[in-house]
Amino acid sequence: MIPQRMIDEVRQGTDIVDVVSDYVKLNPSGRHYKALSPFTQEKTPSFIVSPDKQIFKCFSSGKGGNVFSFVMEMEKVTFPEAVELLAKRAGIDVSKYRQEGARKDEQRQDSRFDTLRWAARFFHGNLESDAGKRAYAYLAGSRGLEAGTIRRFGLGFAPESWDHLLHASTRDNIPVEHLTELGLLTRHHQRNTLYDTLRNRVIFPIFTIGGQVAGFGGRTLSDDPETPKYINSPESATFEKSKLLYGMHAAKDEIRRQEAAILVEGYMDVIALHQAGITNAVASCGTALTRYQAKILKRYTSRVLFLYDGDNAGKKSMLAGIDILLSEGLTPWVLLLPGGEDPDSFIRNRGKEAFFKEMQDNRTPFLDFQLRCFRDAGMMDAPDQASKAVSAMTRSISLVPDPVQKELYLDELSRQLGISRKTLLKVMPSADSGRPSGPPPREEEKKAAAPAPPPNRPLSVSERTFLEALLESTFYGNEVLAFAASHEQMLSLSNHAAQAVLRHLVDRFRELDPKAGHGIDITAEITSISMPEARDLALDILFRLPVQEQAPLLPDQTMQHARRCLSHFLIAVKTLVLEPLQQEKQTVLAQLAGTTEKADEKKLFMRLHELNSKIRSMDQEVTGSINAILEREA
Ligand code: GTP
Ligand code: MN
Repeated sequence: MIPQRMIDEVRQGTDIVDVVSDYVKLNPSGRHYKALSPFTQEKTPSFIVSPDKQIFKCFSSGKGGNVFSFVMEMEKVTFPEAVELLAKRAGIDVSKYRQEGARKDEQRQDSRFDTLRWAARFFHGNLESDAGKRAYAYLAGSRGLEAGTIRRFGLGFAPESWDHLLHASTRDNIPVEHLTELGLLTRHHQRNTLYDTLRNRVIFPIFTIGGQVAGFGGRTLSDDPETPKYINSPESATFEKSKLLYGMHAAKDEIRRQEAAILVEGYMDVIALHQAGITNAVASCGTALTRYQAKILKRYTSRVLFLYDGDNAGKKSMLAGIDILLSEGLTPWVLLLPGGEDPDSFIRNRGKEAFFKEMQDNRTPFLDFQLRCFRDAGMMDAPDQASKAVSAMTRSISLVPDPVQKELYLDELSRQLGISRKTLLKVMPSADSGRPSGPPPREEEKKAAAPAPPPNRPLSVSERTFLEALLESTFYGNEVLAFAASHEQMLSLSNHAAQAVLRHLVDRFRELDPKAGHGIDITAEITSISMPEARDLALDILFRLPVQEQAPLLPDQTMQHARRCLSHFLIAVKTLVLEPLQQEKQTVLAQLAGTTEKADEKKLFMRLHELNSKIRSMDQEVTGSINAILEREA
């Protein structure tokens, strides 16, 4: 268990808008911020963040919650891990809470992320050992890395040994299952023993956007041509290379600031550029650029500069990457480095200044690059080949989602080729034909049959009003919750989700330590409601509520808000409690009007009488409570 005070401190030191901005590009929209959902592949923004309430809601996936749930979702971590990540981000020293959490936490190396972090530290530490001397010399010498760079990227070393990691993991009580799952240990099937997967390799930890270690790449130090130059840890649910960009955690701020990203091929290229002060560089982990990676980039910028190797393979990758970026609505640029250099070797051999000059002088729009590739390949000389090239270029343009941009690109192509727009349009494929179609939507998994619950009714207007007032009231204190807790018997809501919200809040109110002197944190509470429908309902209501003034000009204003809110609540309670009684009364009255039987009449009158007195006493009870609360408030 994390101490509540630690959770509170982290929450207070964290702004959800700031945190979400690490992952998506937020645009102001009224009182909220909007963005394309990071959880789905949507085209129109349905992801909303409320800075006032410190919550988010994604209308396309239904996910929502506070800053902790957001980080849990994005980083695929548990709640305690999310708290820790955010503490680190906010620069909060959580060691003071450690002692109270005591020993158990220390022994609890139980998550995969703990293991990944442990492994990263282990590899990094090896650089300082005797065995690591050669590796360090390689990084610092041949690769020209400064100590700070090695530290910043957490580089490490796996020595030439079959059991170095294995022994360390036994020593540190690291579960071997984790290490085999992560691919860091491999099982020798005949002998049924485990051995280190990465040997004699420089290690590159691969981070998530939030800076968690997700996996590793390892570059061999051996000259043996049989040995693969790079080995990556295997794919898993938490390490999908097609969804990660190497260096993104270190590059995202600069990408946003510069409104541009640089895309390179290798780990070393990213690191060399960052070391040279070009910190908006990322790489696609040795795979072809994926649409998913393009979408990640799009959260931060719309301009991407390809800076791949200038050889044929590199050119081919860039041509393919251009189409991916275009179809995601990004604008690709290309810089071809001279002399077959990659960014890493260029900077090392010719220096930063030469590199900046290249960036200034030689970057070209993607169209120029395509045309140049086709020209260099001699395709523009023979009409049959040229026709193919032109088709390919119009196909790229057809992928652009924005119609205005599409027009402008077409104009540009027409100008460069001296071919009329009309002709180009004839060969250009129609908008959607070039797009890869996604997998068919998967069928919802069938849940095991549960015992039949009591009948659920749709949320009534008075139930909604009641919940609105209840939630809003928590901005001003616990009075209303206290009332709800003491009148729980009469407050039974026929909509299950609404009832679950009420129950949860009342339960939590009862658990509150009255001496603590603070109210409940409504956002956190709502996020922890276990029934998804109830959580969604509460989040939805919370989103629509008027904003609480953070620092009202006059204390009177807060008072006024509190009053208004309280009276809403009490009116809602009255309606909610009295409505069913009033309804029955109407029915009885109607029956009375329709009957001539003396016996029936008598029975109905008695029922009417009963109802009237019940209504009266309820009314009195509720009104009494209302007055009591209002007087206390005044
Ligand atoms: P250095 O030789 O260390 O400068 O590497 P580099 O980054 O220049 O390597 P290269 O241009 O050959 O490859 C670019 C990227 O492709 C690397 O950073 C790796 O991510 C990936 N890659 C290269 N070789 C291999 C390999 O043998 N296996 C795998 N899985 N990936 C590789
Ligand atoms: Mn290289």
